[in-house]
Amino acid sequence: MFPLQRGRRLRVNESIRSLVRETSLSPADFMFPMFITEGENYQSEIPSMPGIFRRSIDLTVKEVKEIYALGIRAVNIYVKVDESLKDNTGKEAWNPNGLMQQAIKAIKTACPEMIVMPDVALDPYSIYGHDGIIENGDIANDATNEALVKMAVSHAQAGADFVAPSDMMDGRVLRLRQGLDAAGFPNVGIMSYSAKYASAFYGPFRDALDSAPREADVEVPKDKKTYQMDYANRIEAVKEALMDVEEGADMVMVKPGIAYLDIVREVKNAVNVPVTVFHVSGEYAMIKAASERGWLDHDKIMMEQLMCIKRAGASLISTYFAKEAAILLKK
Ligand code: PBG
Repeated sequence: MFPLQRGRRLRVNESIRSLVRETSLSPADFMFPMFITEGENYQSEIPSMPGIFRRSIDLTVKEVKEIYALGIRAVNIYVKVDESLKDNTGKEAWNPNGLMQQAIKAIKTACPEMIVMPDVALDPYSIYGHDGIIENGDIANDATNEALVKMAVSHAQAGADFVAPSDMMDGRVLRLRQGLDAAGFPNVGIMSYSAKYASAFYGPFRDALDSAPREADVEVPKDKKTYQMDYANRIEAVKEALMDVEEGADMVMVKPGIAYLDIVREVKNAVNVPVTVFHVSGEYAMIKAASERGWLDHDKIMMEQLMCIKRAGASLISTYFAKEAAILLKK
């Protein structure tokens, strides 16, 4: 009660504030999402994501070594494959010599300590831009799961430490766990995108991979709402996360980040595994755009958002700001 209690005593100067600070950030809190493309010594900046590039494997490896030196210990990797390799089965996804498999091998060879988490979902390989196989105008859940198992096993064979299913099919974590175990990979972990919402914040990512749902000659859903979650829902996120843990997920994820911090805390309180948060492409783009105009202070907003995601309950944050934030934290 005032005047016995004066909250401002704990805010008098930076020293006292640092003593009572409840949350801290370090580069090991971050995972860096990286886009990989064919070619050599090639990179192209994604127009809606200034500072983020699609890179050939050789340049990706160079960047991985740099961010490792900055203290970042995990990368999420996504590939942009040639249109000619896309079909409705997604079979390029488990080509042992595919772009993803080559990238995993190259990164693990050059930087063995970096935890490599390839994305497991069919959208970069789907002629329809969906995270699954289309049958009769819908995504065929169980057939998609079998494709995802083949994909994940091929990632494990290439040396992946974790696989990261981002597709939202029902039961895929269980099938991935069983498939990895049966193939002799009991120690390859699963980071499941458990509460992934059907969000407009993924726009720039879909530009990066050319993976947005598209018009087709057959009937296909125009968006991802039959598998990604309705952003009006909270309880359902807890259900999804608990089911994934039961099915063998080592970590669960909430995605997107900033607009979903209530979900992060809810899931954090419900599960006993690390919760990761994906601070997604649209969130990155908004900060870049506003700060380019001088409307927001880029570095301050970046650090505030990352700290708030951590405070909400994230053990790990997948963020396109990983490198910039790690550099700032070193200063
Ligand atoms: C697709 C996938 C998406 C993202 C990660 N994996 C996009 C989507 O669901 O359409 C989005 C990441 C981001 O926006 O940064 N499996």
